[in-house]
Amino acid sequence: MEAAKRTAEAAPLQDKAGRSVRAVETDKASAQRGEIAISGLSKVYETKKSRFEALRGIDLNVRTNEFVTIVGPSGCGKSTLLRIVAGLDELSEGLVTLDGEEVIGPGAERGMVFQGYTLFPWLTVRENIEYGPKLKGISTLERRAISNHFLKVIKLESFANAYPKQLSGGMKQRVAIARALANRPKVLLMDEPFGALDAQTKLEMQEMLLEVWEKEKTTVLFITHDIDEAVFLSQRVVVMGAGPGRILKTFDVMLPAQRTPEVRELPEFLALKRELGLLLKH
Ligand SMILES: Nc1ncnc2c1ncn2[C@@H]1O[C@H](COP(=O)(O)OP(=O)(O)OP(=O)(O)O)[C@@H](O)[C@H]1O
Ligand SMILES: [Mg+2]
Repeated sequence: MEAAKRTAEAAPLQDKAGRSVRAVETDKASAQRGEIAISGLSKVYETKKSRFEALRGIDLNVRTNEFVTIVGPSGCGKSTLLRIVAGLDELSEGLVTLDGEEVIGPGAERGMVFQGYTLFPWLTVRENIEYGPKLKGISTLERRAISNHFLKVIKLESFANAYPKQLSGGMKQRVAIARALANRPKVLLMDEPFGALDAQTKLEMQEMLLEVWEKEKTTVLFITHDIDEAVFLSQRVVVMGAGPGRILKTFDVMLPAQRTPEVRELPEFLALKRELGLLLKH
């Protein structure tokens, strides 16, 4: 473990041209937007024998650097919607654009984090984080700077050389987030990323995610079953209903921008939770 820490700290900070590698990273981030526009989206799953309308008439815009959460009953189409935005699933009708460009397949500008740990078990933490940049052909030096940066962000510098099986659930999920962020996505699509974690770890992860979101300036579209999590994290909560999957209502979260744990005790926080709870019950 000590060796891992030393390697992380000893990483060089200049590229071949003598430029600061951190400065190179910052240049890339500054070109960022990340506006999602979904209009008239419907999704029908069809086989020879059956036809199932999973989503109907979905209209949703997510602004640059906005944090939007989707809640709704099981089976209402949340994951389907996210997979379509990710380009992993096809829509039946409608249009999804990212910064005005139609989404027609997966792309590095959209990072995905799922509930299951989708790390490569045969790669170390650092190698997992560097995986995307490596595919893009980014130099070893720059990759090292990127992984150093994100190891620090997720506070796992001392686990750089550990393998996923040596990590706890929360740690694995932190690496999954770092791995998605290492591609410098404009948008982070998260499908119940903390669903499998214990209550305490979940709270820690939520705070870490908000820190990352503020620092990295990505747009986040986040799915959860947990109303408390939705209100705590987001600027807007979208409530979906089933049969077929559709948007029932959207709520602006009127809470302080700085989400400290005390925010959970504010009357506005409790009132919104109550309202969402009632809407989801019916
Ligand atoms: N490949 C598929 N073929 C046919 N039906 C599907 C397929 N994928 C999903 N569905 C159906 O579409 C509906 C929406 O599924 P989806 O996984 O999007 O729901 P969800 O809101 O994410 O639910 P959960 O909260 O349980 O994760 C479900 O009724 C599901 O059975
Ligand atoms: Mg789902």
